[in-house]
Amino acid sequence: MSLIQETSLNCRADARGALVAIEGGTDVPFDIKRIYYIFGTKEDAQRGAHAHFLLRQMAICVAGSCRFTMDDGNRRQTHVLDRNTRGLLIDPMIWHEMDCFSPDCILLVLADGHYDKTDYIHDYEHFLDLAQVRIRPVHQLVA
Ligand code: TYD
Repeated sequence: MSLIQETSLNCRADARGALVAIEGGTDVPFDIKRIYYIFGTKEDAQRGAHAHFLLRQMAICVAGSCRFTMDDGNRRQTHVLDRNTRGLLIDPMIWHEMDCFSPDCILLVLADGHYDKTDYIHDYEHFLDLAQVRIRPVHQLVA
């Protein structure tokens, strides 16, 4: 399965312009408990570079563009977010990095939990160890 899980958001456009509404549990597959957004990012900056134990998120580039790298400890895939009608799901235990921010980029993130620094894995080697345990078949774990 692809690490890039993108969903199309319903865009209501008329002569005045466009509107996208996102409802928890419908347009995004979880209840939304927190919203944050990232802007003014330096072009050479990298953000993210962590995974979460439990948190589920959806990232929407509401203006400009940026690049995501998603990594499950086994595979790595990159994806450019440049459409404000697309949401990228970030599942738990997916290492994610963001870079190549356009100067006008506004990255909106919806999350199913409040900010909890204990839910972060910041060390890539630690993430790889945990991810290998997770994807190894059960019979190998007990052997
Ligand atoms: P950081 O985790 O470095 O952001 P990113 O993952 O995009 O690189 O967060 C920057 C700061 O903001 C850090 O001090 C933690 C704080 N923060 C909150 O207080 N609440 C939040 O919901 C988030 C995402 C971060």
